Amino acid sequence: MSQDQTPNNTQTEPHNPVMLETCLKELNLKPGQWYVDGTFGAGGHTKALLNQGVKVLAIDRDNSAQQYTESLEDNINFRFVKGNFRDLASHLRRSGIPEVAGVLLDLGVSSMQLDEADRGFAFRKDGPLDMRMDEASELSAAEVVNNFSQEKLAWIFFKYGEERYSRRLARAVVEARHSEVITTTQQLADIIFKAYPKGPRTDHPARRSFQGLRIFVNDELAALSDALSAIENSLSDGGRMVVMSYHSLEDRIVKEHLRSSKRLKSVYKKPLIPTEQEISDNSRARSAKLRVAEASVINDILASGEVAQAKNETQLGGEDHDD
Ligand SMILES: C[S@@+](CC[C@H](N)C(=O)[O-])C[C@H]1O[C@@H](n2cnc3c(N)ncnc32)[C@H](O)[C@@H]1O
Repeated sequence: MSQDQTPNNTQTEPHNPVMLETCLKELNLKPGQWYVDGTFGAGGHTKALLNQGVKVLAIDRDNSAQQYTESLEDNINFRFVKGNFRDLASHLRRSGIPEVAGVLLDLGVSSMQLDEADRGFAFRKDGPLDMRMDEASELSAAEVVNNFSQEKLAWIFFKYGEERYSRRLARAVVEARHSEVITTTQQLADIIFKAYPKGPRTDHPARRSFQGLRIFVNDELAALSDALSAIENSLSDGGRMVVMSYHSLEDRIVKEHLRSSKRLKSVYKKPLIPTEQEISDNSRARSAKLRVAEASVINDILASGEVAQAKNETQLGGEDHDD
């Protein structure tokens, strides 16, 4: 789902999975085989996968996702792990699943996380400045905003929010926290709003800084990189990976991983995007980019160097040639 926080986005219904038909098609489902939904959320994708007769190991790092597993508890083809998808290999090992036929990642935050003011993700809803997807993790956005140096704050806004006024905004935050502790999303959004250069804009001034903080607090990009390596090693031959991202930082990581991967190969050169109809039905799909990759037998052999060695031997006339 996207990070859409436009005021007229009144969507509160959590069961609206993005690019669902494309995900199902591109995962090349094989009934009876194991698939991983690494971002369970409200379980929209998982439920559709189960309806196709496959087995699903679902993962989510957010405690609140667990409530959406209730209707699936009796389904023998379903298992849920509360954890981080970056630890995919150990989740599979502990679940006794040696390899999987496909993995789906639908990155970012869910509409439920955005809609709940108490989680502190949304700059348009006043709540505690939290932003942790996993409430057991130590670092909240408030700790970052109140304790980190001006330079580090500017770096977070710039690197993870791609905010061009990162230095100016970091300075405003540090000045503001001299007079009072910044504990709410509204306080931070107001500080950023006041510090932002005036003039025409298409976006809320706080959108990028909030994105930067969220990505930093949840270590989202490193988790994605770790997950891609784990997926590469967990897919069976011909297995598919489908990753949906919602901003260029995530998409770039997926694209670059696929470019350098020996085992996973992109199925399409360009990412798939939602149709106009999907966007009008589900505004959260607007910025989605979906990449598909396949782990193939040949790529696997190439990765292990066996083909290169075999070719070498053929060129030399075989190991046993007699000179
Ligand atoms: C966009 S939502 C997924 C929505 C889901 N596909 C659906 O149909 O309801 C992303 C979910 O992934 C979870 N998530 C994000 N990063 C994660 C990570 N590193 N490990 C596990 N879960 C993660 C979030 O907590 C959130 O619930």
